[in-house]
Amino acid sequence: MATMVPVDVTTPLTKNEHLLRWVEKMAQLTQPARIHWVEGSEEEREQLLDEMVASGTLIRLNQKLWPGCYLARSDKGDVARVEDRTFICSLSKDSAGPTNNWVNPYEMRRKLRDLFRNSMNGRTMYVLPFSMGPVGSAMSQIGVQLTDSPYVVVNMRIMTRIGLPVFKEIDKDYKRVVPCLHSVGMPLRAGDKDVPWPCNKEKYIVHFPESREIWSYGSGYGGNALLGKKCFALRIASNMARDEGWMAEHMLILGVEDQSGQKTYVAAAFPSACGKTNFAMMVPPEAFKGWKLTTVGDDIAWITPDANGQLRAINPEAGFFGVAPGTSTSTNPNAMATLASNAIFTNVALTPEGGVWWEGMTAEPPAECIDWQGNLWTPELGRKTGAKAAHPNARFTAPARQCPTIDPAWEDPNGVPISAIIFGGRRAHTLPLIYQAFNWSSGVYVGATMGSETTAAAAGEIGKVRRDPMAMLPFCGYHMGDYFRHWIKMQRSLSVTPRIFHVNWFRKGADGQFLWPGFRDNFRILKWVVDRVHGRTRGKETPIGWTPFYKDVDWSGLSFPVEKFEELQKVDRVAWKREVIDHEELFILLHAHLPPELVYERELLICRL
Ligand code: GTP
Ligand code: SPV
Ligand code: MN
Repeated sequence: MATMVPVDVTTPLTKNEHLLRWVEKMAQLTQPARIHWVEGSEEEREQLLDEMVASGTLIRLNQKLWPGCYLARSDKGDVARVEDRTFICSLSKDSAGPTNNWVNPYEMRRKLRDLFRNSMNGRTMYVLPFSMGPVGSAMSQIGVQLTDSPYVVVNMRIMTRIGLPVFKEIDKDYKRVVPCLHSVGMPLRAGDKDVPWPCNKEKYIVHFPESREIWSYGSGYGGNALLGKKCFALRIASNMARDEGWMAEHMLILGVEDQSGQKTYVAAAFPSACGKTNFAMMVPPEAFKGWKLTTVGDDIAWITPDANGQLRAINPEAGFFGVAPGTSTSTNPNAMATLASNAIFTNVALTPEGGVWWEGMTAEPPAECIDWQGNLWTPELGRKTGAKAAHPNARFTAPARQCPTIDPAWEDPNGVPISAIIFGGRRAHTLPLIYQAFNWSSGVYVGATMGSETTAAAAGEIGKVRRDPMAMLPFCGYHMGDYFRHWIKMQRSLSVTPRIFHVNWFRKGADGQFLWPGFRDNFRILKWVVDRVHGRTRGKETPIGWTPFYKDVDWSGLSFPVEKFEELQKVDRVAWKREVIDHEELFILLHAHLPPELVYERELLICRL
């Protein structure tokens, strides 16, 4: 291998020998033209943004309307996570389990070395240190991402805590750092012209759970490329959490304050594009005077039992990477306020005023705009061809601190106490609006057997029901059966177990329409959850769990007929028997690692049905 060292290197910002040696080794492998140690300053950010505007990667939006905001349009083949190109390369295939793609780690390392050899030619390699969780918190973890994408750097700057304070933390005492190597996989050789969104048709999103490493090749998009997010904070962290007795979950975290000022924190796991961001920032209906909802996180929770056996959660992220389509001042005003400045938009439409637009943002679409692929779009054209102005998985990246409902404790290094866990999926049929599990192990069963219709957040078929345990199917970095066992075992470290619930905002009636208005009206259901947590309300026993009586749901300001509520809450025994047969499919797959508790829970459920 050539040992040419890049000509142009900014001052290394660490004294950590391991880190220096790894950067050097990776630079020798990938052969970038420059190395840039990321300090995380405002000037550095502006310089990167200017460079990307000049190169065509970013479009600067009208700064009067959208201060600090930019638009990126991706390659049309690089628009979502690629689950079939995501690999868990544990030493044994059995540790990855049947729900993950596994390749022998030695074979994969050989493949990756070939892919990454000279992959950064002509580009800058950024050395980007990041902290998942507040810098210095005992619940936080540190990673360093080497990337040849400046787009990734400016997005990670919003999504995580980066730069000098993190290098300082790395140098302070021996802290384990998760090495993350990322390349868009499009080297530039002499005479090559760059494109606005470099990437490669061949994609590899690879995790080595034992050595806690991430190698990502070929994509610049979201969870494929912002490696702190799904790759680290879920796939690698779920391995750390299992070993160390905590939990890394695909959950939002919110706080509910009642009229008397009592605060209750709730975590909720819904699959991708199933409503976490919306739920985390919900505005209670007008009639709920004195109630307040606050946001701790919208996508990921790291949850640890404290010395008293109480679960406490931090949001390891510092920003939101939210679904744009459907977000509006009526559905999610807090998200709209958060993304009003200093946001990066990806794959939304550009308006003639230099603003952004997406389906559902306003009641009336603009008379014309430039769609996410750079072509002219009009409502007329949209109607005729079905073309969308924004890609269904178009996203905004925005700083969490700009969220009007951000919780005062969102950066508390000790996290917030969790009193309830809500699971939820996107289900047109069978699953009621809300029910409560009988206890911890039946709650784990509810989470483990969750199903949901697939969405645009991942490449592949949309709208098909699949089992997505705890919304972690694409994100659990080890055997799903062992993950269930870890959940069951967690109870032993707890003096108070959070109450567990299941919600479904997406049940449809005979007319194919949603039965439930959703969005801010979900607060009515959340209030029942909080009331249950504090033992303030009864539940009706059904074969699947406790459900609310109609009159125990606060209907202030909404006329919602009891018959419609009964339809939403209906537990149809015939449909549920089919549902339990569907559970079996996953359980057979995981059988050798399935904790006995879940087998018993299934038996009990069948008996009750
Ligand atoms: P990821 O970022 O992919 O993890 O998604 P998420 O779980 O944060 O989902 P998000 O809140 O962005 O919502 C995704 C889609 O679901 C959007 O199109 C929303 O408009 C829609 N949605 C959210 N909440 C509701 C609801 O209560 N009812 C209905 N019908 N749709 C909802
Ligand atoms: C998800 O798909 O669950 C997301 C978006 O939150 S991504 O960061 O692309 O994973
Ligand atoms: Mn998500």
